[in-house]
Amino acid sequence: MTDAFALAETLAKHGQSHLLEHAATLDPQCRAAFCARLAAIDWAELAHPCEPPPIQAVGKSRVIGWEERQARAAELVPRGEAAYRAGEVAVLMVAGGQGTRLGSSAPKGCFSVAPHSGKSIYQLQAEKVWALSQRSGRSVPFLIMTSPATDAETRQFFAAHADFGLAPGQVRFFCQGTVPSLSLDGKALLAGPGQLLENPDGHGGCHTALVASGELARLIREGIRYLVYIQVDNILAPVDDPLLVGLTAAEGADVVTKVLEKAHPDEKLGHLVRVGERDRIVEYTELTPEQTRLTWPDGELIYRWGSPALHCWSVAFLARLAERGFKLPLHRSKKPLKSWPEPCTGWKNERFIFDLVPEAERSLGLVIDRREEFAPIKNKDGEDSPATAVRMASDLYARWLTKAGVRVALPPGALIEISPRFAATEAQFLARWDGRVRELSGPWYLEA
Ligand code: UD1
Repeated sequence: MTDAFALAETLAKHGQSHLLEHAATLDPQCRAAFCARLAAIDWAELAHPCEPPPIQAVGKSRVIGWEERQARAAELVPRGEAAYRAGEVAVLMVAGGQGTRLGSSAPKGCFSVAPHSGKSIYQLQAEKVWALSQRSGRSVPFLIMTSPATDAETRQFFAAHADFGLAPGQVRFFCQGTVPSLSLDGKALLAGPGQLLENPDGHGGCHTALVASGELARLIREGIRYLVYIQVDNILAPVDDPLLVGLTAAEGADVVTKVLEKAHPDEKLGHLVRVGERDRIVEYTELTPEQTRLTWPDGELIYRWGSPALHCWSVAFLARLAERGFKLPLHRSKKPLKSWPEPCTGWKNERFIFDLVPEAERSLGLVIDRREEFAPIKNKDGEDSPATAVRMASDLYARWLTKAGVRVALPPGALIEISPRFAATEAQFLARWDGRVRELSGPWYLEA
């Protein structure tokens, strides 16, 4: 039962009393449900969206560059390998976003993308986890965060494809929460009579949702120590990465964030920087074009290290945050909103997973080659589209084949596809390659 007086007081304090006026127009059953939802919302946090750090306080994060990566590989790779084989690693994929920018209302993961097989993004990601599980002899837990908009369809999609060959129970879905969208003057909006207009609470919602769903407690019980985090829209995101896991273990890190050299200063990425004693990620939307071009006295860009949103989180760190009731802050962005009775432009509020980074006592960056690990699908055409992503994947497979001694000379537009079920990493490919072709001069598909 909602405490009507307390609710009225809270709403008045945060300038949301118009919601009670609306509640008064509803029938008793709808009113009770509407008020229960209003009472569950943290109105204070909505009133204080996150502010970027002052620019003068920014410093350099510790980033493991190419030299150190190579020098320590012989130590780190076996360490990570041991963690995989001991069953200490799980994969977390956030998939709460819809394919709106791809012109579809279906979950982005359902989008068919592979050039020859027509496999969906979900299938490609799931097959990477399958390959890892085969290789490590462990049924690596594959956690998938959905949102209310993608949950049912995602579950059905996996069920219809028998979880793409993964073991029963290996895929574990959990659903993120929602937060109210606001008008530009900070008022909560309606989606319809008795229905608050809300949006999924961002990929950062995965921390709260891991706790609320019981998945974090379950990971701890299972002895999982490292969570390899990927986003559904990056088809090259590696899940089998002993060097990353080994680095997290060897450094006792709370988080390792992969970083890459940006293609140009204005590339739409977050940036790993140090602010005071802590690392943090500053989003491109928080910077002006002038700021993205600022350099250190040695000429290095201050915002040099772009984040492809690939992390390895220590489960103990996530658990410590949960124990102290930590909640990620909200960021707001101006968006067209489907409010009722009129659509409007207002604020969408989201939590960002990378705001966990400043909470980490031990955080570091790990340089990666973008050509190997970062092929995001954000837009229908042009930059970061399905076409650029499958081209990048094809180029990567061409390099694997060339290393294996195959002469690759493709005409423009021809694409190579290698199934993750044959090999999901270069090492696997080279170990498995049987020399079945010596030359490639056209489109080519290799299934297991
Ligand atoms: C994101 C990062 C950026 C990073 C870039 C790399 C943010 C704000 N920025 O940008 O720092 O450099 O990726 O590609 O995230 N998602 C959910 N639930 C939500 C919202 C999003 O699960 O409520 C998932 C989406 O399914 C997607 C991922 O999060 O997998 C990224 O979301 P998106 O909004 O596309 O982030 P970008 O702005 O592209």
